[in-house]
Amino acid sequence: MNWNTRYLQQAAWTHDLRTYLFEQAGLKTARRILEVGCGTGAILRELSAPALHGLDIEAGSLDECQVQAPAASLTLGDGHFLPYPDKSFDIVYCHYLLLWVKDPLQVLCEMARVGHSVLALAEPDYSRRVDEPSALKLLGEWQTEALRRQGANPSFGASLAETFYQAGIRLIETGPIQSGAVVKSAEEWETEWAVIQSDLAGIVPEREIQKMKELDETARKNHERVLHVPTFFAWGKT
Ligand SMILES: C[S@@+](CC[C@H](N)C(=O)[O-])C[C@H]1O[C@@H](n2cnc3c(N)ncnc32)[C@H](O)[C@@H]1O
Repeated sequence: MNWNTRYLQQAAWTHDLRTYLFEQAGLKTARRILEVGCGTGAILRELSAPALHGLDIEAGSLDECQVQAPAASLTLGDGHFLPYPDKSFDIVYCHYLLLWVKDPLQVLCEMARVGHSVLALAEPDYSRRVDEPSALKLLGEWQTEALRRQGANPSFGASLAETFYQAGIRLIETGPIQSGAVVKSAEEWETEWAVIQSDLAGIVPEREIQKMKELDETARKNHERVLHVPTFFAWGKT
């Protein structure tokens, strides 16, 4: 699985909302910006600022991030314990991160401690995923279970705004992302299936996965496929 390809796909889903939110948060005049859980740099690579920082817990992702976003200063670290002084960034943001961490409240508290504006750009709620035709609902259940086994909280998106309040961040705007996870082109569909196959390997027999892939392909060709994962954003000031 090429994770950079996957992260670029997710970044495309949230592009329009992110452009709006960054503008609201004063990106144009921000001098110091931090992404927590920056991965391979799918978002960082788009930004420029006098001081652009990224932090991630995986060294391999940071190696790729250095290639994708050469202007960024990168740190290997844990979002639960950010290695920066209080209020050292104008904007601190994350994108598809909080569902993966052990304690999202602690990570948000840390983001609030080091930043003035805090943005969580995309956090999904797989518990309310919609799959049609109904034979494909099982695929949604498998994938949600696979995320759980990988250590994610698949329904964290539903708690995002509440967690902002608990972290003492003055919420300015929150809501669902309009388009969510929409698979459009054949190329995107293949990337989506590479993720599914990697997620389900060892959990669901290969034969069953293949059957589901065929159902999905037929539904897609017949324009019957609906796949919607409600995904939420929130931003606020400290
Ligand atoms: C789904 S990826 C998203 C990457 C990037 N934000 C993007 O949207 O392209 C989640 C990232 O969070 C990182 N991560 C998970 N737990 C973390 C933690 N406790 N501290 C810092 N990074 C973490 C992972 O290593 C991974 O790179």
